[in-house]
Amino acid sequence: MTDILKPDAQQITGVRETAGFPSVRMRRLRRTPTLRSLVRETRLVPTDFIQPFFVTEGSGIRVPISSMPGVSQLSIDELLKETRDSASLGIPAIILFGIPDQKDEVGSGAYARDGIVQRAVRAIKDAAPDLLVITDVCLCEYTSHGHCGIVEDGEVLNDASLELIARAALSHAEAGADIVAPSDMMDGRVAAIRSALDTGGKSATPVLSYAAKYASSFYGPFREAAESAPQFGDRRAYQMDAANAREALREVQLDVDEGADMVMVKPALAFLDVLWRVKEKSPVPVGAYNVSGEYAMVKAAAERGWIDGQAIMMEILHSIKRAGADFILTYHAREAARILAWK
Ligand code: PBG
Repeated sequence: MTDILKPDAQQITGVRETAGFPSVRMRRLRRTPTLRSLVRETRLVPTDFIQPFFVTEGSGIRVPISSMPGVSQLSIDELLKETRDSASLGIPAIILFGIPDQKDEVGSGAYARDGIVQRAVRAIKDAAPDLLVITDVCLCEYTSHGHCGIVEDGEVLNDASLELIARAALSHAEAGADIVAPSDMMDGRVAAIRSALDTGGKSATPVLSYAAKYASSFYGPFREAAESAPQFGDRRAYQMDAANAREALREVQLDVDEGADMVMVKPALAFLDVLWRVKEKSPVPVGAYNVSGEYAMVKAAAERGWIDGQAIMMEILHSIKRAGADFILTYHAREAARILAWK
């Protein structure tokens, strides 16, 4: 049998490790819950989580998302109740997605001073100043065509979209967002946002870049939640090809060079290898987005009694942290935080 571990052991102890079964018994440290806990390599804590929310116009509004049990579109007053609950569970941060009343060709609602996200940020920061508010910066929820940039002749224009994306980021920061998180995947958007923030008096606002964001079918339920499905075509001309891993390192490098303070890999589960590689190389903190489709699969199978939903949820969250995530964006945040609080 080839042996990859023994040379290391030899270096550490100076003694060639020859022992095996029956003197070595791995099961010794698995005997009781306390022993297992003592030697556990990865520990989840509520401060690992960032909770996503969908905010919509009106008051007293809660619209459940059918493909995401437990998740609803919320008006600002309802959102405030939920964010208070998240904060009391020890969850340090939320990320906001806006659903505007009106959409147009250029996504005006994304950078309107009184846009839905801008108002929600102000309300949350008033009610719970210590809760970190991250805003997703993108145009797709605000454009009539549902793409993440400006469209001309059926094509999503890169450079022309940058100014609008940067404007959206600055307006979020002006409303009080603690962190802005661009998810559009236009080239050069981190630099454009950084410069808009710096010249707009927001040099202290960090950028969390969705650096390695794949064109993924795992976003299906999100598009129901955020009403942001593209009206023609798909996002493959700007989001990454799911078959590529080395390319993710280039994306991360470019975003860090452009000034990203943190980067993200998205989705998480089908891309844990990418997460691991990015974590090994990244000089900045690395997040992972446990996306809507990953959540929906767990909920659907659990509803049918085919899996133990809570146990699978914890196993998945551990796997994401074990693969290198410094923080995890997840719709499971509160459910998991509650379980961790009981322990
Ligand atoms: C917006 C955006 C998307 C998600 C986060 N920001 C959807 C998309 O790119 O189509 C997906 C999140 C999820 O599925 O939970 N661009």
